Amino acid sequence: MDKEILNMEEAAEFFNVSIKTFIKLLKEEKVPARKIGREWRFTRQALIQWLSAGDSQQYSSSDSDTKEFFDRVAPEWESMRDGYYDDSVIRSLLETKLLKSDMTLVDLGAGDGYLSRAVASQVDKVIAVDISGEMLKELNKKAAQDGLDNIRTIIADGCDLPLEDESVDLVCANMFLHHIEEPALAIREIRRVLKRGGKVFLADLKEHGNREFKERMHDAWQGFSQNEIKEWFTKCGFRNISLDMSSKKAALKKNDDGIFTMTAEK
Ligand SMILES: C[S@@+](CC[C@H](N)C(=O)[O-])C[C@H]1O[C@@H](n2cnc3c(N)ncnc32)[C@H](O)[C@@H]1O
Repeated sequence: MDKEILNMEEAAEFFNVSIKTFIKLLKEEKVPARKIGREWRFTRQALIQWLSAGDSQQYSSSDSDTKEFFDRVAPEWESMRDGYYDDSVIRSLLETKLLKSDMTLVDLGAGDGYLSRAVASQVDKVIAVDISGEMLKELNKKAAQDGLDNIRTIIADGCDLPLEDESVDLVCANMFLHHIEEPALAIREIRRVLKRGGKVFLADLKEHGNREFKERMHDAWQGFSQNEIKEWFTKCGFRNISLDMSSKKAALKKNDDGIFTMTAEK
């Protein structure tokens, strides 16, 4: 018979989340629990009740809040971005030698085209996807100014791409994943649209303690650890996962914790 009283590890396992995620939950929410002596205990029944009492409003509103935020800041995104990071992510992408003149590249969470516009002349076609139509308007305006005519923009959720299975050679995503509540969903979608042998280039925030980003920039995650990223991509079936956690290559101007880059293959 299943035990009714659970310790911390068992409770995390019961929710099917890592212990780290569970501890975060305990800090941020009122999960029914009692400290007995030095240890916390949970009951299955109370955990189920607590879980069932929630609703999905928080999920959908966080998505639409993110869209509204980026719609609003779109005209000034370039100068905002300049305050946070420079062109080192673009240099990192070029150094990977992944770009090929006959390829179709998807830029996820493309924004005003920081990556799309930098690489468009080196590939056949860029598909820039973003949930914010205003960001993509900026992208189209700037691409026209730069004389680029091979970038197609699509307003869509990165977790539900209107693209065919196995239709893309390379997916790039700079500063996109930390806006996604369930990164595994976006990673699964990346894998679905990639051709066999297709590659992914990811650049995002390393795990950091700056809550301000969450509140001010609508980040869903305070960056990621190497283990989290490796585990998600491995579970999703990617191979040759290569992470570069050295801040020197891709740094955040306002945060010493910096940026990591990752490449992986389907
Ligand atoms: C921090 S900005 C980065 C933009 C661009 N990649 C850059 O480096 O300048 C994050 C972008 O991801 C987009 N985004 C957030 N959630 C998204 C989602 N669920 N699907 C698609 N795009 C999303 C935002 O609208 C925004 O343009």
